[in-house]
Amino acid sequence: MVHARAPATSANLGSGFDAFGVALSGPADTVAVERAAETSIEVSGAGERYIPTDPEKNVVGAVADALDAPAHIRIDKGGRPSSGLGSSAASAAAAAVALNELYDRGYTSHDLVPVAAEGEAVVSGEAHADNVAPALLGGFTIVRGDDGATAVDAELPLVACLPEVAVSTRDARDVVPDSVSMRDHVGTVGNAATLTAGMCRSDAELVGRGMDDPVVTPARAELITGYAGVREAALETGATGVTVSGAGPSVLAVCRPGRRRAVAAAMVEAFADAGVGARAYQTGIGRGATVL
Ligand code: HSE
Repeated sequence: MVHARAPATSANLGSGFDAFGVALSGPADTVAVERAAETSIEVSGAGERYIPTDPEKNVVGAVADALDAPAHIRIDKGGRPSSGLGSSAASAAAAAVALNELYDRGYTSHDLVPVAAEGEAVVSGEAHADNVAPALLGGFTIVRGDDGATAVDAELPLVACLPEVAVSTRDARDVVPDSVSMRDHVGTVGNAATLTAGMCRSDAELVGRGMDDPVVTPARAELITGYAGVREAALETGATGVTVSGAGPSVLAVCRPGRRRAVAAAMVEAFADAGVGARAYQTGIGRGATVL
């Protein structure tokens, strides 16, 4: 039997829609895999009742198929699905490294990015890799079409605040505008480049400045009750940048050193003011999937 762990992730970071992601230092999924004639799946942990165990419908079934690695796969969920924190990507990444080891396939973590992205396609309808790349590689990652992923080590205090509302990735993709103005394009390129430079220096101020996104985030913020108040509360308390995490509903804040606890409390309180229960993960940029 092989065990593996893969972290939750936050994609987009505002200006890097479908391109940027970070691995979180927590929460994480763990999987245990054993060789079998046919793939079967058991799920426990956060949101277990929402996760299908049919291999045709679960991300890890698609990963086992792609690696030609049938197995009994036990998933222990650290984060619930439809959270905006890469729940399915964490399972896909953990299964990919575990099955790669179990069947001695010899793939690198970079090789496994498109494999785990195939798993993502099962749940979202599209094989985008901006959650599976950080889940596998760790740190801050940039995906570029089918061209693989670049990973950069970075250290930043983060808060991921998860409200008790559900936003499906499909719904959140429906509100993404079909086109952007040249003005917004130029602004977004500048922000994304600023954010990347900030990550290379682990500079929270620069990263926060580069998170602004005039295109996708405003449309998605409408789907999250209380978003504007939560964003303002986090910025007032010591966050340098705040945005929708992935497709939502989680809200990600990059924090100044020593401000993470205060930012987390302010975000939960602001959601409560809007009548929404929420929990905050005080986290940071973490490592990618590992065999345990
Ligand atoms: N980049 C994706 C999105 C991440 O924002 O829709 C969610 O899978």
